[in-house]
Amino acid sequence: MTMLQVEKMTKQFGGLRAIDSLDLTIEKGQILGLIGPNGAGKSTAFNCIAGAFAPTSGTITFEGRRINGHKPWNLCKAGLARTFQIVKPFASKNVLYNVTVASFINTGSRKIAEEKALAVLESLNFAGKKDMLAGNLTIADRKRLEIAKALATEPKLLLLDEVMAGLRPNEVDEMVDILKALRDRGITIFVIEHIMRAIMALSDRVVVIQFGKKIAEGTPAEIANNENVIKAYLGEDYVVARN
Ligand SMILES: Nc1ncnc2c1ncn2[C@@H]1O[C@H](COP(=O)(O)OP(=O)(O)OP(=O)(O)O)[C@@H](O)[C@H]1O
Ligand SMILES: [Mg+2]
Repeated sequence: MTMLQVEKMTKQFGGLRAIDSLDLTIEKGQILGLIGPNGAGKSTAFNCIAGAFAPTSGTITFEGRRINGHKPWNLCKAGLARTFQIVKPFASKNVLYNVTVASFINTGSRKIAEEKALAVLESLNFAGKKDMLAGNLTIADRKRLEIAKALATEPKLLLLDEVMAGLRPNEVDEMVDILKALRDRGITIFVIEHIMRAIMALSDRVVVIQFGKKIAEGTPAEIANNENVIKAYLGEDYVVARN
């Protein structure tokens, strides 16, 4: 079953075409990686899919339903959640509070919202820090909180925008394991990431964009060996380091 289909999506900001006729598809249960140089349009693609902006043209279909221009909170209720590249938790509130706020999308009951939030924190091995103020968390834990907030909305499709940026290598490995476990629980994942090791380990397929256009798509192995991708993004150093 197709979870998300993006057809000829274009997003224009004045004279800048940040996304240019982009096509991509994610099947249910897949992990799709999205990579490309800084400014390629990755976050803009997420913003259009998750409803922060309506695309200028093209069609976005989520579980068979056209969702162009739908509001983020309605998409979230329908099972499409995203994280933000720049995390902005309620810094003066604790972890449990931050996640409970997200749980309220599906319930009016504080008790149920808090129970759901706790279950999410436990599933991420994060419950031990539930009483810590979000503002006092390390970068790795802020990223984990960002994922916990998204999970508390009970998504079918999770869009993750650079949740591994700034993490140490062992923290990246831990995050890769967490995301694989989420996929094994049936959540479809669309992930933007600059850490190639993580993208290659996680993704079933990878889409590469440059100047808003798709320049390659394939399995991680195909992408790692694609001349255009090496020129545009990975660089010769990546090839040397890999061999
Ligand atoms: N709200 C906006 N208004 C105007 N221009 C924007 C807006 N958002 C993004 N852009 C521009 O669109 C282009 C794509 O930006 P985007 O943030 O999508 O890139 P990215 O691939 O996520 O980059 P990075 O890897 O640095 O996060 C950039 O030139 C950016 O300046
Ligand atoms: Mg970005």
